[in-house]
Amino acid sequence: MALKTALLQILEEHRDAPVSGQALADRLHVSRAAVWKAMKALQAEGHRITAVTNRGYQLERDSDVLTPQGIRCRLRPAYRDCAIRVDARVPSTNTQAKKLAADGEAAPSLLLADGQTAGRGRMGRAFFSPPGTGLYMSVLLRPAVQAEELPLVTLAAAAAVCEAVEEAAGVSTRVKWVNDILVDGRKVAGILTEAVGDLESGTMESVVVGIGVNVKTPADAFPEELRERAGSLLPAQVSRCDLAAGIANRLLTYADSLPERRYLEPYRERLAVLGKPVQYKQRERWMTGRAVDLREDGCLMVEGIGGVAALRGGEIRMEGEWQ
Ligand code: BTN
Repeated sequence: MALKTALLQILEEHRDAPVSGQALADRLHVSRAAVWKAMKALQAEGHRITAVTNRGYQLERDSDVLTPQGIRCRLRPAYRDCAIRVDARVPSTNTQAKKLAADGEAAPSLLLADGQTAGRGRMGRAFFSPPGTGLYMSVLLRPAVQAEELPLVTLAAAAAVCEAVEEAAGVSTRVKWVNDILVDGRKVAGILTEAVGDLESGTMESVVVGIGVNVKTPADAFPEELRERAGSLLPAQVSRCDLAAGIANRLLTYADSLPERRYLEPYRERLAVLGKPVQYKQRERWMTGRAVDLREDGCLMVEGIGGVAALRGGEIRMEGEWQ
């Protein structure tokens, strides 16, 4: 392991506390001068490392460089060996994860990028992915589910994101069915779940769950068309490594026992639409109704003029979004 990587791993394990330069040199069998030089290189990469006189080096709490080491040391032991890849910039971590899955990449794997140049959202939309301020992560899974149960993976991911965001930012979250995560009525996160299958046999081999969170995007940085509805976790100071690990821990745990549906209650509790008027699309036409229930299979039950409809996917509009 390169010296820089090994040092970063130790500093991450002791984040916010000093580690003596001599102890680091002894542990890694290098000179103190080599430790100093590697620390300078890490600082140049953006890590906020402070040299505390007579006490050693400290990785500051607000240091926010996304790294495999920073994520790995926060994963539950059962997932600590999973592959984690962090890139500076990719078109889309979901596209990249799907390619890797088709090439036989092991699951679970985490793919992250500091920024995306062609981030993708649901319904063919783009996902605003500026560098340095958001979390863009794809989780490659091979859950034991049939293709028609794919919506359950999305629900599990939404519950995982809500719980992790609440813990990291100290806010409460709501879900706009299916998977828009809201804080104070603004969308702070979205989820794009995609299946990777074998076209010939029609089977689903893997699932890529793409998660995008606006962690510290200033309000005026959003493009004009998103400004009214999008938000970020600011003013909370959230470490993206912490948040990535918090989401991955929960999502992988839910995915390991998907048929038990333990994510259903946390999801339902946060569902913002139950009992409320909604607009939904049926046969290419927008209809108005009232969301009455969330079925065990993830379908939103909506009461409209023609009776109760089960919405399996697509999107709804809540009051205030009607056009
Ligand atoms: C949505 O809100 O419509 C879903 C947004 C999903 C965005 C994430 S960011 C990481 C992953 N890579 C992508 O291109 N999209 C997902």
